[in-house]
Amino acid sequence: MTVTAPAGYAAIVTAAGRGTRAGPGDPKQWREIAGRPVLDRALAAFAGFPRVVLVVHPDDMGAAISRYAGPVTIVTGGDTRSDSVRAGLEALEGQASHVLIHDGARPLVGDDVISGVIDALQAGSAAAAPALPVSDALWRANGKRVAGAAPRDDLYRAQTPQGFRLDAILAAHRAHPEGAADDVELAQRAGHPVDITPGSEDNLKITWPADFARAERILGGRMDIRLGNGYDVHAFGPGDHIWLCGVQIPHDAGLVGHSDADVGMHALTDAIYGALAMGDIGRHFPPSDPQWKGADSRIFLEHAANLAREQGFRFGNADVTLICEAPKIGPHAGAMQDRLAAIMGLEGGRISVKATTSERLGFTGRREGIASIATVTLIKD
Ligand code: CTP
Ligand code: MG
Repeated sequence: MTVTAPAGYAAIVTAAGRGTRAGPGDPKQWREIAGRPVLDRALAAFAGFPRVVLVVHPDDMGAAISRYAGPVTIVTGGDTRSDSVRAGLEALEGQASHVLIHDGARPLVGDDVISGVIDALQAGSAAAAPALPVSDALWRANGKRVAGAAPRDDLYRAQTPQGFRLDAILAAHRAHPEGAADDVELAQRAGHPVDITPGSEDNLKITWPADFARAERILGGRMDIRLGNGYDVHAFGPGDHIWLCGVQIPHDAGLVGHSDADVGMHALTDAIYGALAMGDIGRHFPPSDPQWKGADSRIFLEHAANLAREQGFRFGNADVTLICEAPKIGPHAGAMQDRLAAIMGLEGGRISVKATTSERLGFTGRREGIASIATVTLIKD
């Protein structure tokens, strides 16, 4: 679930860095953790904000637009983190009362951390930011040798999102173009008191190569993975075409059913309801209800997919098997996959449609009808 921010709140997600410490490959915010880019996860945490500004490197503008344009305003950043934040703030001038500024490289920020910052601002703090007290002993070193112990009382490890009144932090950035390590430091320099709110060990900033594996381990502990299966059968009857997985196929018979009798789509829809433990098509679209007579089965699949999304799930993959002697499915399988993927909002390569005969055995073997089984995985993290 995401935090619903009060009206007047905006978020800036900074993602214009190059991630030089994170090792080879794409910049760290574009690399995946458990199948989803770091930046997707950071942005998703702020989906409940009325305005979101994403700051990216000029080289990444195209990728950012194709992936995030629409709900998110995208601007280009600068050479330093402060320059990038300032670009985001300038884009928000006059358009919000408060702003939370978050590192795009912190993909696992939790609702509690974000809510803590909002609550402090709502309670009247001029600025608020999450941090964790330092718990390890601190040393000063001379090369590789300990030179002395440093007191750790009163020391905190700073995190993001850091929250401010928009006009105050924008003025602070304009007054201090030299920048600082983070926005709290700039706010302090401009004389604003900053309150500390609870941080979280999970809210790590991906910095070093090993941080990707660490983030995956944290996610693995939280992930809710669901598996669902569905099965459906429709008998052949009079007709000259059938609908299978959203594709119309000419045939010497039709399929009998209350709706369009799309047996593949029905099995897949039931698999989703099954994964959600929310019954089956018959429960959501009773066959006794005349409004579903001849209905396009897309309605059922869309309903199930929307239910999954409303509950915070995304699709891992889906696999549909059609069992029939005829028609031949192979020539249509690609179109079926595309159709199902479009309805479910699933990227290609995560959906499969395949077919088998039953060696002329049983009702499908005797060409009395078509059966279908489907499996789907849903993931929430
Ligand atoms: N950032 C930015 N613009 C910059 C530098 C950093 O928007 N010129 C962003 C990064 O994309 C990141 C956050 O600020 O989300 C924190 O910075 P950091 O962890 O230092 O990321 P990078 O600068 O990309 O990494 P490195 O310092 O290892 O190169
Ligand atoms: Mg950096």
